[in-house]
Amino acid sequence: MINDALNKTVHKIIHGDALKVLKTIGDNSIDLIFSDPPYNMSKTNGLKWSYSSHVTMHEPWDIFDKDEFFNFNREWIGECVRTLKPGGSFWISGTFHNIFDIGFIIKNIFNLKINNTIVWYKPNAQPNITCRFFTESTEYLLWASKNDSKHKWKFNYGISKSDIYDNINPKNKQTRNVWEIPLTPKKEKIYGNHPSQKPLELLRRIIISTSDEYDTVLDPFAGSGTTAVSCIENNRNSIGIENNDEYINIIKNRINGKANGSIIVNYENYGDEQNGLQ
Ligand SMILES: C[S@@+](CC[C@H](N)C(=O)[O-])C[C@H]1O[C@@H](n2cnc3c(N)ncnc32)[C@H](O)[C@@H]1O
Repeated sequence: MINDALNKTVHKIIHGDALKVLKTIGDNSIDLIFSDPPYNMSKTNGLKWSYSSHVTMHEPWDIFDKDEFFNFNREWIGECVRTLKPGGSFWISGTFHNIFDIGFIIKNIFNLKINNTIVWYKPNAQPNITCRFFTESTEYLLWASKNDSKHKWKFNYGISKSDIYDNINPKNKQTRNVWEIPLTPKKEKIYGNHPSQKPLELLRRIIISTSDEYDTVLDPFAGSGTTAVSCIENNRNSIGIENNDEYINIIKNRINGKANGSIIVNYENYGDEQNGLQ
C-alpha cells in the first residue's frame, strides 16, 4: 500500500457490500478506521416543511428493523476490529439512533478501549420540523483503540493543540471533546448530493490527531468519499468501500478534482455476479 519512495499516497475505492468486502482485507493491516455507518433514522417518506423543499432522511440504505440493525452493526464492527492493527484507532460517527448500540458492541462484545466521545456541535443545524423536540444540533464520535500489552493508541498531542481550533477550542490549548464545525459547506458538494456528507474539517481533525503520514485509513461506508479526499489532503493512504453506484460516481469526481499526479488511485468492483454490480 505504501508508496512513499515516490512521495505518492495510494487510494483504493471498492464498489461493493461492506459486509463482503471487509472480509477480503487482511488481519491487523489498517492503522485507522473512520466509519460513518447507516444510522437507522430514516422515515419511509421523510418529513418536510410545507414551505420548503428540505425533506428529512428517507434513504432505503438507512432503514432496518431492530434486530437486523443490531446484527448488521455487530458484523461490520467485528470485521473492522479484525483488520485493525494493534494500537490502531477506530472512529465511529453517529447519532442517538445508533451510537449507544455501537458503544455497547465495541466495548462489551469486542472489548476495545473507548478513549473519548467527541461531540460535534453544528452551529447552523437544521431546525426541528415537528416542533415537538429540542433541535438536534450534535453528532457523536466514538474514538476507540485496539490495544495490547505492547501497542497503545496513537495521539498526536502537539498537532491536536496547534492545528485544531474553533470558537470552543482556542489555538495552542488542549483540545476539548466538543468540536464546533458547521454543516458541510456547498463548496464541498459541487460533485453531487449525498444526504449525509461529512465536512472535510471533521475528517481532517480525526486523521491528523490519530494517524501519521503514509498510514492507511479505512472507511467501510465511504458515501461521497470525504475520508479519501481528506487522506489525499493530509498525505495518508486510504481504502473506501461503498455499494451505491450514484455515490461511487461522486467519489470518482471528487478524487479526480484532487488528482494532480501526486496520488495513485485504484477503483475496483467487488463481486459483480453476487451483487449485480456493473
Ligand atoms: C452515513 S453515509 C456515509 C457518508 C460519508 N461519511 C460522507 O462523508 O459522504 C453511509 C453510506 O454507507 C453506504 N452503505 C450502506 N450500507 C452499505 C453496505 N452494506 N456496504 C457498503 N456501503 C453501504 C450508503 O450508501 C451511504 O453512502
